[in-house]
Amino acid sequence: MLSNVIRSQDELHAPFGGVVPEIAARAHLQTLIPVIERALETAATRWEQVDGVAVTRGPGLVGCLLVGVNVAQAIGWARKLPVVGVSHLAAHVFAAQLEEPDLHPPLLGLVVSGGHSDLIRWQEDGSIGVIGRTRDDAAGEAFDKGARILGLPFPGGPAIDRLAAAGDPRAIAFPRPRAPGLDFSFSGVKTALLYEVRKRKALSEQERADLAASYQEAIVDALLQRVEAAQAQQLAPTIVIGGGVARNRRLREAAQQRLASRAHLVIPAPELCTDNAAMIGAAALIEWDGRGPDPVPFDADPSLGFA
Ligand code: KG4
Ligand code: ZN
Repeated sequence: MLSNVIRSQDELHAPFGGVVPEIAARAHLQTLIPVIERALETAATRWEQVDGVAVTRGPGLVGCLLVGVNVAQAIGWARKLPVVGVSHLAAHVFAAQLEEPDLHPPLLGLVVSGGHSDLIRWQEDGSIGVIGRTRDDAAGEAFDKGARILGLPFPGGPAIDRLAAAGDPRAIAFPRPRAPGLDFSFSGVKTALLYEVRKRKALSEQERADLAASYQEAIVDALLQRVEAAQAQQLAPTIVIGGGVARNRRLREAAQQRLASRAHLVIPAPELCTDNAAMIGAAALIEWDGRGPDPVPFDADPSLGFA
């Protein structure tokens, strides 16, 4: 990895308490070219040394995806470079390759982000099969909505992570979210948090921290329980956890405790878990090996799955 320039939009959306699609698309338009120039500069690389362009084709907000795929294809056309459009979900798994160059199937992956909670198996034939998904909220969404209930700022995941460090994870026994099979469900625990907050007239700082720690513990426990169950059923010597929620310190710690003895556990460095360009590059290299570059032009696909 020669460079991984990240231009966060968090401070643009924070006043609204969530991502505003129009602001997100406009910010992509304004920052994409400067970010690409910074990436080349940081990598001490000239355009003549670039062999191809990788871009997220989906899933995500269509306005943002359109900016990306059009810029990537324009560069490809102007510089006569091949372009590979990849799934940003698959990229959350393949980010592990930046830490673990010999990453290969079969592998179990947990992708936990703002829009997804998916358990996948990267099959021996190179395809990715989804074996569990959320029935309602994604894990990141549960963190973000829970943070709002607790009166914490956007983005909620990091805010809960920070506050939970001062709280007792056993203070409140939140229900462990369950869904049939290997699926997830987080709306019940979110409602339970809302009732706990309403029960108290005002929250002391300690109560808020205890609620955050207990809520985080319930989400982490539910996620890892499903990974354990999947691992018991599926042959997979390697487990990868990726996506923005994989930054969560309690999830990282508990995953080590519960999974590291059962399989080879790879959780990429925190900056490779939240959305980033390096993981798109890593995914593109793997897809390129499998199917070569994409015929241009291709479209953004806001509801793309893992392939
Ligand atoms: O993968 P990502 O950067 O973007 C999407 O694809 O959605 O994930 C963003 C999500 C947000 O819901 C954010 O609150 C959550 O990841 N997140 C965290 C932490 N850092 C980011 N959740 C829990 N603990 C964290 N430390
Ligand atoms: Zn993501």
